Amino acid sequence: MTDTLTPVLSANWGDERAWKLSNYERRGGYQALRTALGKAPADIIGQVKNANLRGRGGAGFPAGVKWSFLPKDNPNPVYLVVNCDESEPGTCKDIPLVMASPHTLLEGVIISSYAVGCHHAFIYIRGEVLHVIRRMQQAVREAYSAGYLGKGILGTDFDLEVTVHAGAGAYICGEETALLDSLEGRRGQPRLKPPFPAVAGLYASPTVINNVETIATVPSIISNGVDWFTSMGTENSRGMTLYSLSGHVANPGQFEAPMGITLRQLLDMAGGIRHGHQLKFWTPGGSSLGILTDEHLDVPLDYDGPAKVGTGLGTKALQCFDETTSAVRACLRYVEFYKHESCGKCTPCREGSWWLVQLLARLEAGKGEPGDIDKLLDLSDNIAGRSFCALADGTATIVKSMVNYFRPEFEAGLHTPAWELFPYEKTTAWYRAGAVAESGATA
Ligand SMILES: Cc1cc2nc3c(=O)[nH]c(=O)nc-3n(C[C@H](O)[C@H](O)[C@H](O)COP(=O)(O)O)c2cc1C
Ligand code: SF4
Repeated sequence: MTDTLTPVLSANWGDERAWKLSNYERRGGYQALRTALGKAPADIIGQVKNANLRGRGGAGFPAGVKWSFLPKDNPNPVYLVVNCDESEPGTCKDIPLVMASPHTLLEGVIISSYAVGCHHAFIYIRGEVLHVIRRMQQAVREAYSAGYLGKGILGTDFDLEVTVHAGAGAYICGEETALLDSLEGRRGQPRLKPPFPAVAGLYASPTVINNVETIATVPSIISNGVDWFTSMGTENSRGMTLYSLSGHVANPGQFEAPMGITLRQLLDMAGGIRHGHQLKFWTPGGSSLGILTDEHLDVPLDYDGPAKVGTGLGTKALQCFDETTSAVRACLRYVEFYKHESCGKCTPCREGSWWLVQLLARLEAGKGEPGDIDKLLDLSDNIAGRSFCALADGTATIVKSMVNYFRPEFEAGLHTPAWELFPYEKTTAWYRAGAVAESGATA
């Protein structure tokens, strides 16, 4: 553990036009690719395995182990697919990474493709972020011109094509099998597993799907070595990672630090909670894994710490809420998101999230009825584990965890509107006394 930042992926983000190939190369960019192409693919997989690079997309599965699941005897082509759908509330690390330094990701894509024997890789980017899609496309064009992509890369016999694909803006398309359906031109809905993508993924071929940050980390491991990577972090969670601080924080943003840093340490570097306020609750891993409170400021933010207190590291989206926030309102906003993003394939998720919104909306309005809170919990129990994918588990988890920590606020929803207890204008991040009145807006 440490209380200092370790910028690696974000080291060049402040550089002048960091996204240009020439500027990336000036900092040593694409040297890791040259090193990797001089090694056997199995050695690269071995290095990624020994580094214990765990997937940064939420589940923390070791990348090298995932790569070694690819069958050796399948005659179909192997595909690498990069997941840049990034739509979980509060999660905002992959899109800034691609925007600031698309070549970091691209170098990772080329090295990883070489390691797994892929000759056509796809980068699937959330549709709303057109500026990011354009930046990635421009980087791909530059890489083709410089001989980093295409036939005979850097004079070797390794060929690779890269396609940047724009999604249409659906959270469910971040789920890896829904992403594959979407990439194939179908409506994005999760597939039944098994078969897992490693065996039958894109076009029923062996496919590796990894998060942007996972793949972007690979060049640094190749350049600096396994010992360098494993010297950072904690026993089961090695290396550095991007933590995204948002919400009622004095200086929100990306903080790249060794795994295992705590929220207290990160907040110290971010100027703390906004002036004059205290932390009420926060998400360690985006909204899908549940909340923590100010009792948990010293939980190590690695794959074990949040899990020990009933939540998870997820996407390391640290959304912080101060005492002006209504837990009922925040819970309603989250569940409205999940209801909207439910793909509709299975009944508990599709119908259950709708009913949760109805109950939460009347509790927010102070019009709850006796038994509503038990109904919320009962519905949640009937959604979690009874649906097809983890979107539904996320819906149920946020409700159960909010009620667990703030039940009295939900009980107040039987008689008092949340906006009376927690006025809107006080909770907005830009709040200044009198600002709402001056603007002429109504709360
Ligand atoms: C509803 C839902 C949305 C998801 N969204 C993303 C996403 O935007 N980006 C991502 O990398 N993983 C997302 N995941 C996780 C992926 O299914 C998959 O585990 C991940 O891309 C694997 O990459 P990694 O092993 O490098 O972490 C999502 C999962 C679910 C259930
Ligand atoms: S759990 Fe929800 S999002 Fe997942 S497949 Fe079922 S309906 Fe779709």
